[in-house]
Amino acid sequence: MLFRGWGESVDGRWPDVAVVADHVGVDHVVVTRHALVRQVLADPVTWRPDNALDAVTPVPVAALRVLAGHRFRLPPTLANNSSASHPGIRALVAEALHPDRVAAQQPWLTALVRRRVDRLAAALDAGEPVDLYAGLAADLPLLVLARLVELPDAPVDAVKDFARAALELFWAPLDADRQLTLATQVGRFHTVLREFAATGGGLAAALRAAGHSPDVVVGALFFLLVAGQETTSQFLTLLLHRLTAEPAVRAGLRGGTVAAADVVEEGLRLEPPIVTWRRVAAVDATLGGTAVAAGTSVVLWLARAGRDPEVVAAPARFDPGQRGSRRHLAFGAGAHRCVGAQLARMEAAVVVAEAAPLLDGVTVVRPPWCPDNLTFRMPDAFVIRRG
Ligand code: HEM
Repeated sequence: MLFRGWGESVDGRWPDVAVVADHVGVDHVVVTRHALVRQVLADPVTWRPDNALDAVTPVPVAALRVLAGHRFRLPPTLANNSSASHPGIRALVAEALHPDRVAAQQPWLTALVRRRVDRLAAALDAGEPVDLYAGLAADLPLLVLARLVELPDAPVDAVKDFARAALELFWAPLDADRQLTLATQVGRFHTVLREFAATGGGLAAALRAAGHSPDVVVGALFFLLVAGQETTSQFLTLLLHRLTAEPAVRAGLRGGTVAAADVVEEGLRLEPPIVTWRRVAAVDATLGGTAVAAGTSVVLWLARAGRDPEVVAAPARFDPGQRGSRRHLAFGAGAHRCVGAQLARMEAAVVVAEAAPLLDGVTVVRPPWCPDNLTFRMPDAFVIRRG
């Protein structure tokens, strides 16, 4: 299961807490129940976030050398930071993503999505297949992020390639050759980030002004560039794909009886782009009756927690607004809860409202394919055509 958790059925026979060692001989403790996942997330002292960005497949020496050649380091900054510096760094990021600043982007994003939807609709009308990943979901979150936070002046494709390479390098099962290729790609972009961290404005300048070291500024930007756009691109793709199979939901959107915001919450619950997130036991502890030794990697199965019958009335049904729909843990919880949740929700609501009509009367030519990965779904092309 470790790498394809989203493929497991809700009824699969999984205990509340299970010990699995199905990758490079490492024992991971997998937590499935909503209450237990929440309990872990709410207690970052017993269950520390330090391993959040650790490579699932240990990086071999040759690839480490490549990374070191680019002075690549990931010090504790945001998701992997249990030190005293976390609240300050988080506060600076939260300021850049303040709800008022997010809301101010909505009209611009709506206009952009509308233009794209018009173009995609014209292509569909002309009988052409369209790729909703490439044509809509892939770059929108990055474009919005760039308006909120000054980013390095790099082409969109370069940032996307880097982000996907990073997600593969740190969360996928890999062989040594692939690790070397990915380390080269990630390392190269890291050099760009390091230059920007030293001279850039916006968040980079704010972090520098707060006295953070160059490594911390680079580390925070690295995480934000990945977490702040790739996750949402993936979510938009998965949600649009899911909506092709939910005609009643689309009819509700059309008729005004279903709110886009509620569709987004059900999407996050049933199609989260981040299916698991990790913590590490700081001390010998017990979880749901299972002993967990200090140092154990704890894999929180967020996707499954969203389908826990104890929190949601109809776990497998896409039913916007149903009781418990918003209680998913797609954004984590507690001190490290996603700072970009409001932004992601706004972006997804705009895309649902504007793009759902495109899905009426279409056939899925190619559903998005998701590679093996512990945490990220990473869907690729999603192609539809009329008829
Ligand atoms: C659908 C899209 C997204 C999903 C599902 C998602 C999910 C998550 C999850 C599961 C965590 C870990 C939470 C924890 O440890 O409790 C997280 C952390 C974080 N996310 Fe997101 N995220 C999304 C979009 C974004 C966006 C758009 C941004 C910023 C532009 C962002 C920035 C962050 C940051 C900075 C953290 C670290 C917070 C901290 O440690 O204090 N995320 N996110």
